[in-house]
Amino acid sequence: MKKPASATDPLWYKSAIIYELHVRAFSDSNGDGIGDFPGLISRLDYLQDLGITCIWLLPFFPSPLRDDGYDISNYVDVNPSYGTLDDFKSFLKGAHQRNIQVMIELVINHTSDQHPWFKAARMAPAGSPQREMYVWSKTDQLYKDASIIFTDTEKSNWTWDETAKAFYWHRFFSHQPDLNFDNPLVMEEVLKAMRFWLDMGVDALRMDAIAYLVERDGTSCQNLPETHAVVKRIRAAIDAEYANRFMLAEANESPADVRPYFGDGDECQMAFHFPLMPRIYMALRQEDSLPITDVMAQTPAIPDNCQWGLFLRNHDELTLALVSEDERDYMHIAYSNDPRMRVNGGIRRRLAPLVDNNRGRIELLNSLLLSFPGTPILYYGDEIGMGDNIYLGDRNGVRTPMQWNSDRNAGFSRCDPARLYLPVVMDPIYGYQVVNVEAELSDQSSLLHWMRKMIALRKLFQVFGCGSFSFLKPANRKVLAYLRDIERGDGSHETVLCVANLSRFAQPVALDLSAYRGAEPVEMLGYVPFPTITEAPYVLTLAPYSFFWLELQPPNAKPA
Ligand code: NOJ
Ligand code: CA
Repeated sequence: MKKPASATDPLWYKSAIIYELHVRAFSDSNGDGIGDFPGLISRLDYLQDLGITCIWLLPFFPSPLRDDGYDISNYVDVNPSYGTLDDFKSFLKGAHQRNIQVMIELVINHTSDQHPWFKAARMAPAGSPQREMYVWSKTDQLYKDASIIFTDTEKSNWTWDETAKAFYWHRFFSHQPDLNFDNPLVMEEVLKAMRFWLDMGVDALRMDAIAYLVERDGTSCQNLPETHAVVKRIRAAIDAEYANRFMLAEANESPADVRPYFGDGDECQMAFHFPLMPRIYMALRQEDSLPITDVMAQTPAIPDNCQWGLFLRNHDELTLALVSEDERDYMHIAYSNDPRMRVNGGIRRRLAPLVDNNRGRIELLNSLLLSFPGTPILYYGDEIGMGDNIYLGDRNGVRTPMQWNSDRNAGFSRCDPARLYLPVVMDPIYGYQVVNVEAELSDQSSLLHWMRKMIALRKLFQVFGCGSFSFLKPANRKVLAYLRDIERGDGSHETVLCVANLSRFAQPVALDLSAYRGAEPVEMLGYVPFPTITEAPYVLTLAPYSFFWLELQPPNAKPA
């Protein structure tokens, strides 16, 4: 008997709306300046009202917190700053009671150097299974073709360990030694940790840094067949024991290189679409749909049970690893003129400041996020238009406390402001006195209300999560137009036409919709009928940065 999950539909992730948050940043219940599980539980109603259906929790395990918890020192416990295992269980229960699923992190490429495995490995005899939990070498000249990821801090992927008298391999910070998947003990331990959380009822796993699991000399040490074998092994273990769970691949790779992480439907059910994201920002700034249509043309088909994970921003820098040098220069000029806005070659800013707090642009980007083929992933605070703090180190500028109201510490914590894990945003545009949940809830025209409406609308139409996708090719490239379509059980079709004006000026567009002649487009936000489609080009005019979602209803359809 497989262990059941909280979701009953095995493909639930296709229609999910995922909300990414860090427990540390969300709500502090005990006044120590650090968000915790009891605090998060007290905000579950907020998330339910927002309409999201799955919470992605950033790492909450015991950790020295030198990489915000991605440096794990114990896989099977909760960091005491955030609460206890029982608190986590109460949170999980509270989420499930609200029909919200929970995704956590499975960070298996590396551990903290403070993990007992690493402490033991350094002391253990060379060649012993304890030592071989990690990747050691007498020289730092192996795996020369592997790139360095944290270019601002690391000069090499090898660090000398005086105790072990050997170099150890780390694809990220030097305090994050990589686990050695050539040692069967590693897989055993990883599966144990995974079962610990899945047994408790966790619904999904984000597979951190999954492209780097195995190293081989003479290769880039990314996406190796041996790495895919590891992923398949983990998936098989899940399928054997658990129902209705999923794995999400974090592989910052080209679409062609990400595609194998879906396997034949036997690796990850979901993978982030990394290359799409910077191209959405390019298209917006260039007022040209080409960067988007181009990357979508390079995106291969994926198995039926699989899904792309789409996002505009997350807890990391806006990565530019997958754009050309010219495009990177362009993105830096357009979006991060001040060098403080950059880290590791990417851009460490939040959504609202990236688009100069322009409401039209924020809505336009979210309309794409919610209507492109895939599952949308929102980053906490972006639903209220939170700002960032580029004067904080590393990626902390986009990890500041959630802004709940205009009280002390933005209602996040009752502590002395000096005690907060990070300062709240206080500038005159994005500061918590102006941008906060309470104010936006009482303002019917706030971004928060708009987001709630859009999420609710998306959830009414199966086509967004599960339907096919095709571009129309209007002559005016400032306008992006695409069709989503799905056949319903009764043979009829749910068809949605999305049209988005990427320009800061009004634009006309003529669309060839002759294949739909006779159909009546209905604007979905207001349920407003538009002129019937004929053989002739269908002409629309769009205000700056505006978009339409139009349901194409067959002639004489009764409004639902
Ligand atoms: C990817 C995570 O998103 C990032 O925050 C972290 O620093 C690296 N993995 C290393 O764990
Ligand atoms: Ca606390």
